[in-house]
Amino acid sequence: MTRRSPESLRSARWFDRPDLKSHVHRARAMQMGYSAEDWRKKPCIAVINTWSDVNPCHAHFRDRAESVKRGILQAGGFPLEMPAISLAETFVKPTTMLYRNLLAIEGEELLRSHPVDGAVLLAGCDKTTPALIMGAISANLPTILVPGGPQMNGMWRGERLGSGSDAWKYWDELRGGTIDEEQWNDVLAHTNRSFGHCMTMGTASTMNSLADVMGLTFTGASSIPAPDSNHTRMATAAGRRIVDMVWEDLTPDQIVTRASIENVLVTAMALGCSTNAVIHVLAIAARAGVDISLDDFDRVSRDTPILANVRPTGEKYLMQDFHEAGGLCALLERLRPQLNVDCLTVSGKTLGDEIAGAEVYMDDVIRPVDNPIFKDGAIAVLRGNLAPDGCVMKPRACDPRFHNHRGPALVFDSMAEMKELIDQDDLDVTADHVLILRNAGPLGGPGMPEWGMLPIPKKLLEQGVRDMVRISDARMSGTSYGACILHVAPEAHIGGPLAFVENGDMVAVNLQERTIHLEVDDATLQARRARWTAPEPRFGRGYGWMFAQHVGQADKGCDFDYLQTAFGPAVGEPEI
Ligand code: FES
Ligand code: MG
Repeated sequence: MTRRSPESLRSARWFDRPDLKSHVHRARAMQMGYSAEDWRKKPCIAVINTWSDVNPCHAHFRDRAESVKRGILQAGGFPLEMPAISLAETFVKPTTMLYRNLLAIEGEELLRSHPVDGAVLLAGCDKTTPALIMGAISANLPTILVPGGPQMNGMWRGERLGSGSDAWKYWDELRGGTIDEEQWNDVLAHTNRSFGHCMTMGTASTMNSLADVMGLTFTGASSIPAPDSNHTRMATAAGRRIVDMVWEDLTPDQIVTRASIENVLVTAMALGCSTNAVIHVLAIAARAGVDISLDDFDRVSRDTPILANVRPTGEKYLMQDFHEAGGLCALLERLRPQLNVDCLTVSGKTLGDEIAGAEVYMDDVIRPVDNPIFKDGAIAVLRGNLAPDGCVMKPRACDPRFHNHRGPALVFDSMAEMKELIDQDDLDVTADHVLILRNAGPLGGPGMPEWGMLPIPKKLLEQGVRDMVRISDARMSGTSYGACILHVAPEAHIGGPLAFVENGDMVAVNLQERTIHLEVDDATLQARRARWTAPEPRFGRGYGWMFAQHVGQADKGCDFDYLQTAFGPAVGEPEI
């Protein structure tokens, strides 16, 4: 393997020149207490840290950043920690998705503008992982992700409690009157018991697993629970490894390729992934110049068994169980015949080498291919006159009777309207109705919030109903479940057909045929379109305004047009 010379390091442009500017950089580094021994002829490594006091999933990141830095120093590098927006899924309003691209820009520009030769990314909570990966791919400096790790299992009265999933489940039980306030508070107290991201197969577990199979973490690192001391050792090892990655010039464009994205699709389906993965993987692939579409998800889903018995698609287990059963390496070894095993990983070895010999220790948690949770169908892509550019659902996370369903629409124009009406005793709704929420897409939401698991109307809950067909241009949490049809494109806010549905219109969903049909003739739809007036823009200024000018629709991954690889020539390094 050829190794770069110290003179060729990017950071040498800051620290190693005989000009006034370089003297100033050295003087300012000395102002921070460093001396030439700290930086001279050494790779400078950005440790991008999404820690904040308002992100419980990243509460351990100050410690982990120190572990990473220890590793960088051991290997002869110079660590430079840099904070980035922390995007806590549970605290950011209206939704972190509004800001995923902002963090992607921040990550990219932190790397571009500073004297750094490589990066370690500290991410975990839902949007942080795809955002920093998007930025790192565009910056294309050697990069390794330290996945934040799942929380320890929730546990209450001998039963596992899953982050998100059990909040939704027991909230319905509270509304349906089967548990009381005290029990509800007990559920909350026993669910999120440690730092780390959600330990269901929600968006965070999905996206960190996918970053892993993509090759951007140590293979198998994504399932190590956050409080496990192995997680700390993994972080330090990542610090050591990134220094060598710089010398080897192992950049993301050698790792994130069409072949590795195909591995991502297969793994996503075998995990029973979050629907949000569809949006993020589309965006990541586009940054890497890999052309995939919604149809690729549907194609791979039809051929891939769901092996991870992790909630909400699985029946019982959580990420801690998954890790103890062998973790991602064991799952990948079972998928080996479907994987491109020659793909490179950050270790410099191939995926095939990294997973060789990995064993499953608990067959009920990571199922054999001949005894899967489901033999296919983690994600289905539907199209029709209600969603010409597609929409998605998780067929295995809902009651199978909804796989072929026809019912009258009950339409809500906004989340506020839905909230006001949904629990009214005289709401005209039956279990066969199709609940529709619109104006909740990328521009309408704004930011495409996770409102797609519409609540079951209270009067139906009291009758024992726990699932219904629900359609929206929103997303839903990866920890959610039910017959929820999401990401309808184009969205209602820009005049997608969802805008023209009226109460009582019949809607037909057919999973087998992958169709979603509004039973209203074209002439009537055209007349409704002619009467329609576009809603007011959500933002008159600021980041939101910029977001609205440039965000793409769900079927394209919701990235900004000007950030996608195809938008313009690659950014060079100006000689200044
Ligand atoms: Fe952070 Fe779920 S809230 S991962
Ligand atoms: Mg989530």
